[in-house]
Parts: sequence; structure tokens; C-alpha cells
Amino acid sequence: MEELRQKYLEAIAGAADEAALEAVRVQALGKKGEISLKMRELGRMSPEERKVAGPALNALKNEINSAIAARRAALEDAALEERLRGEWLDVTLPGRPRPRGTVHPVSQVTEEITAIFADLGFKVAEGPQIETDWYNFDALNIPPHHPARQEFDTFYMHRAPGDDRPPHVLRTHTSPVQIRAMEKEGAPIRVIAPGRVYRSDYDQTHTPMFHQVEGLAIDRDISMANLKWVLEEFFAAFFGIDGIKTRFRASHFPFTEPSAEVDIQCSWVDGQLRIGEGEGWMEVLGSGMVHPKVLEAAGVDPSQWQGFAFGMGIDRLAMLKYGIPDLRAFFDSDLRWLRHYGFAALDVPTLHGGVSG
Ligand code: PHE
Repeated sequence: MEELRQKYLEAIAGAADEAALEAVRVQALGKKGEISLKMRELGRMSPEERKVAGPALNALKNEINSAIAARRAALEDAALEERLRGEWLDVTLPGRPRPRGTVHPVSQVTEEITAIFADLGFKVAEGPQIETDWYNFDALNIPPHHPARQEFDTFYMHRAPGDDRPPHVLRTHTSPVQIRAMEKEGAPIRVIAPGRVYRSDYDQTHTPMFHQVEGLAIDRDISMANLKWVLEEFFAAFFGIDGIKTRFRASHFPFTEPSAEVDIQCSWVDGQLRIGEGEGWMEVLGSGMVHPKVLEAAGVDPSQWQGFAFGMGIDRLAMLKYGIPDLRAFFDSDLRWLRHYGFAALDVPTLHGGVSG
């Protein structure tokens, strides 16, 4: 009995894991285990022998069971310890830095403009950047050989040699979206159309690709006075300055009559651009009453409907509002510039975002 006891207590103490411990248990106390077999032998003993051997065997069985339970608990503790050591995590370590992008001033300003015009009842319309000759010119009352075609410094798409249909163009302005929107919706209509436009031009305030937002409001009795009010309302909200100085100059566009160009007061001080002060003016838009021929080309009856249109330079507005002196840098993709002038993703534009941005 004492030999059995020694043997199994040692085996239990030496069991290195759950499986080994279970093997020891089966060997001692399983159906055919050594101690189980011994207990079965009790039946063949005399009552006197049984009186001694029975309790002794039972005690041995209990002792071994408890030793196994204790060892199992110890093994589990050790396994847990091991896991905790392996899965240890230093939550006080600083986070890994992630590169963070910024919202480009053009995107930010486009959102600002859209929010303000949405509040004034205008919805957003869109058109393609590669445009047909008809939408970009003819429908806007610029027939072939009209001198205005030269003024636009147009980029023409390729045509196969011998194909003498007029080539498509990279749209030179967002005005073709006026036609597309009226064709689709008829009148009355109030839309803005922000997007990219292209002209072969390059200096401090011109790049071959830039951004415009077109505005169009057609109804029964819309006048030049409505145009002026809408624009002044827009500028006040956009710059966060009541009564910001604007200059309406009589002008000419084939697609509006009468026409006006609008400038905003600004100054350049030590290469810094400032709005609302100084002797300078920056032209930011062209506008006027939509020409009857344009309404007609878009399928709107000019004897019933009239209204205004304008085309505004988004990049120019971004330069003025955020004091960015050179337009060319907008499109250089210089990370230092983007970090400096870019906006945080959550810096959501509001109607009254104001000048500070
Ligand atoms: N399309 C004109 C331009 O790009 C601007 C404009 C739009 C003028 C609408 C009048 C009306 O210069």
C-alpha cells in the first residue's frame, strides 16, 4: 500500500501537463487502474482482512484524488501565468504616429460655397470636363469663328486625320452646365455647378486647370437686382464680412446681356494677399442676364422665362479668403504647402465659417 502511495504521489508531482496527469489518474483509478483492481480484490478477502484493507484502500484512493486535484489546479495556475506573461501589453506606450492628410483649400472652399448657395435655394448640377464644341461654345451663343473663341485659349482634343467634325474640348468654363441643366430640368431652375475647367494660361493668378462655380437662376421675373443681392449675400457669408467691398463693371459675354464682371477689394502687402483693404481689385466672377439665344438653345422659351448666370473662380476665392498669394502652388502637390494651407478633415465648413477658417 505504502509503495503504491509513493509511486502515484511521485507520478502526480512529476506530471508536466494535463494530459500526463490524466494518464496517471487512469493508471491508478481508471476502470482497470491499479488501485481500482485492488479494490475489486476486497470481495475475495476474509471479513477481517477486508476491515483493514478496505478503509486503507479508500483512504489511499481519496489521497490520490486530492493530490491529482491539487496538481491540476497548480498546472492551470502555471498555464495562466504563462499566458499572462505572453500576452502582456504596455498600455502606457505612446501610440504609433499615422500620417494625416489635409483637405485641400479648393475642396474646402467648394464645400463652403456649396453650403452657402444651398442655403439660398440652389442645388448642385454637374457636367463633363471633356465637352462637345456645341455645349462649350455654340449653345452659349459663341458660333464658330466668333472672336470670343480665341479669348478662351482652348485645349482641343485629338481628331483622326481626315475627320473634320469639330474636336471636343476641355471645357473652358462651367457655363456648358447651364445648358445641360436646363435641358434636363427646364424652368424654373436654380443651380450651381462647381468643377474643373481648363485654359492654356500660366502666371501668378492663372493655371491651365482651375476651378469655377457656375450659378444659374431662371424664373418668370428674375432680374439683375436679384443677381446683385445674391452675390452680395454670398460674399458676406463667405468672407464673414458684412458689406465687403465689391466692384461691378459693365462687361461683355456672348451668353449674357447685359453683363457684369465683379471684383473684390484687396491688397498685396509684402507678398501677402489681404481682402477688404487697399487699392487693389481681384476679379472673381463674370455674370449677367442669360441671353435669349442661350435659353432657346437649351429648350427654354425666352418669352416666358428669364434669369441670371454667373461664373466664379473658386481658386481665386480661396486665395482671397485664406491669404494665399500664388495660385500655381495650389497644384504643385508640395506636402509642406498642403500641410500649411490644408484643413483638418473634421473642420467642417459652416455658413458662418468666417475668415479664420
Ligand atoms: N463663363 C464665363 C467665364 O468663364 C463666366 C460667366 C458665366 C459670365 C456666366 C457670365 C455668365 O469667364
